[in-house]
Amino acid sequence: MLVCLCRGVSDRVVREVIARGAGTLREVGRACGAGIDCGSCRDLIRTMIASCPPRGCEPPAAASSESARADGA
Ligand code: FES
Repeated sequence: MLVCLCRGVSDRVVREVIARGAGTLREVGRACGAGIDCGSCRDLIRTMIASCPPRGCEPPAAASSESARADGA
């Protein structure tokens, strides 16, 4: 599911950057670009941060394959 339409960032990518340590909206934005344009996704990102604190969740299993697809692999 796309979380950020402006940047085309999926929920898997957002969960992955949170799991890697992004604990604020700004950190998530720096890591993957989500939430840095129109801002309409920020409430959802905040909810995701609150429900999955930094280093408190495992990154989604399919996140690495999604990254590979983004690279054209
Ligand atoms: S939908 Fe995320 S910044 Fe616009």
